[in-house]
This record gives sequence, structure tokens and C-alpha cells, in this order.
Amino acid sequence: MSDRLEDIALAMVADGKGLLAADESTSTIKKRFDTIGLDSTETSRRDYREMLFRADEAMKKYISGVILFEETLYQKAADGTPFVDLIKAAGSIPGIKVDLGAKPMAGFPGETITEGLDGLRERLADYYKAGARFAKWRGVIAIADGLPTWGSIKANSQALARYAALCQEAGIVPIVEPEVLMDGAPGTHDIAKCAEVTEWVLRTVFTDLYDARVKLEGMILKPNMVIDGKNARKASVAQVAEATVKVLKATVPSAVPGIAFLSGGQTTEEATAHLSAMNSAYDMPWKLTYSYGRALQDTALKAWGGRSENVAAGQRAFTHRARMNSLAATGTWQQDLEKAA
Ligand code: 13P
Repeated sequence: MSDRLEDIALAMVADGKGLLAADESTSTIKKRFDTIGLDSTETSRRDYREMLFRADEAMKKYISGVILFEETLYQKAADGTPFVDLIKAAGSIPGIKVDLGAKPMAGFPGETITEGLDGLRERLADYYKAGARFAKWRGVIAIADGLPTWGSIKANSQALARYAALCQEAGIVPIVEPEVLMDGAPGTHDIAKCAEVTEWVLRTVFTDLYDARVKLEGMILKPNMVIDGKNARKASVAQVAEATVKVLKATVPSAVPGIAFLSGGQTTEEATAHLSAMNSAYDMPWKLTYSYGRALQDTALKAWGGRSENVAAGQRAFTHRARMNSLAATGTWQQDLEKAA
């Protein structure tokens, strides 16, 4: 595969393909495993990720790249094959989460600033050697009474831009992820509020990317959809699609090759329906696809349940969701395909 940033970015959003976000940090994967009563150990994390990466049909046909946590980038399957080799053998691209998490922001109660810039140049060089060709950094913006503040939006946006510039210097495509939370507390805002905040955040981010001399052709945007808060869900599929496309068209330059959404706490089927509705109803200058964590994995995690005898069932569940989202990425998903399965 070509090493040009532009080519890697295009491959990440190839027709009918999207990203598997399997970059849960050690504390987040513990929360996911808690839901199936499984201890999180290096071995259980390996077994779970191995199940996903060996789901051949899903990986070859529907998954353009996998976002890994650092442990997984260097981890090997049970038979000693490095995960990076498994992913590449399926024709998919290994990527790496490089931020060190959203930490409370001094002076800004209720808001966070994502850390991880110090030493990032050196870490990126190591990740490149290990095979990573794209990276991810997530800035988190919460909506609540009086929030977000300009100070937190600006600080997170500048960190995203510094990160993206360092990635491109290292030959790595940055996924720029400013997430306006749908499931933060209290989660009662409406879709209009989400639209207003998402537009503000994306305008700020693209200004800072320009100031940081980031090449838009060599990056992928990973935004939230424009949707009402998790505890106030009302908007229809068509309304979410319309509001999301409207904000993206107003803020994302057409030089950006692709936009890969996070699922953010939507149900698996909602995340698929929303993506399909956008792709079927609107003409857009960029590819619109998925970079889902929970919406690709939830049903697979449950079907597997931490038991080796359920690996095939887990892989079937993952493959089904990957296929549904692949159809959504081309705007051809239909609800009855869910029932048929
Ligand atoms: P979700 O799709 O579960 O939101 O995860 C994607 C992700 O990478 C968030 O940072």
C-alpha cells in the first residue's frame, strides 16, 4: 500500500468500508467486560480482540482499519501471530489511539482537556515502526447548564490540531475526533442545542487545523452525529440525518476525504439507520462512514460472553453489524435486513 497520507486516508473510507474502534483503554474495556461478568486481564483482552480480528468476512469486506489501544498494537494472538499482522493479512490498516485520556481541566469545572502531547513525536515514531498508519485523538465536549465554555472548546481544539500536525510529520493519518457528548450528564439537551455546539466546535477545530498547517487531504474527521441527549431522545432518523448533514456542510471543507462517525451511546441499530439515512438522501463532498466502537461490538461482546465455545457466535454477531454498517455507508441498509438475521 502507498505510504502517502492522502492514499491512506482514502483507503480508510473506501466504498462500503469503515473503521472498527477497538481502542478501549484498560479502564474502559473493564467496564465493557463487567457487563458480561468477565475479569479484564491481558489474556481476556487478547482473546476478545482476537475473536474480532479473526472474523475473516467482516475484516476483509467491511473493515478498512482498526483503532488499537497501545497494549493491543504490540500484542500477539494465542498462536503467537502479532495482531498487526492479522489485521494487515485481512487487508485492513492498523491504527493507534495516542491520546492519554480526557482529564479534568483546571479552572473549568465539569469540563475536560485531553492530554498526551508531551513526547508524542517520539511515541508516533515508535507506533509507525510497529505498523500503525493512522492515529486517533479524542477531545470531549460536554453539554450542561452553562457548558460548554469557549475556553474548553479552544483548548481541546488546539490540542487536536497540534496532535494532527505531529501525526502528519510522522507519516501517520490523524483521525481528528472532537466529540460532543450525547451521553454525558445530564443528557437532557435537545437536538438544536447539539447542532449549535457541534457547529461551534467544528468551526473552531477547522480554524485551528488551518493555523497548525494540517493537510486536510491527509486526515479523517470523526465527529458525533447531531442528536438529542441520551435522556431526551426524540428526534426521528430523518431529523438526525438532516441536522447532521447541515452542520457538516457548514463546517467541513470538501478537501477532507472522509468523515467517520463515532456511535457515542446510540443503540447499534440507530447508529446504522442514521448513517444510512444520510448516505441515501444527501449529496456530499466527502465519504461518510463509521468508526464505531460500541455500535460494532455490543452484540458481539454479548454473544461471546467470554467463553471460548462462543467465539463463532461472537464473530457472527460482529460480522452482521459490520455488514449492516457497510450497507449504511452506501445508503442501502433496510430495517428488514435486521429481522432476516
Ligand atoms: P463509540 O462508537 O463507542 O462512541 O466509540 C468510538 C470511539 O472511538 C470513541 O472515542
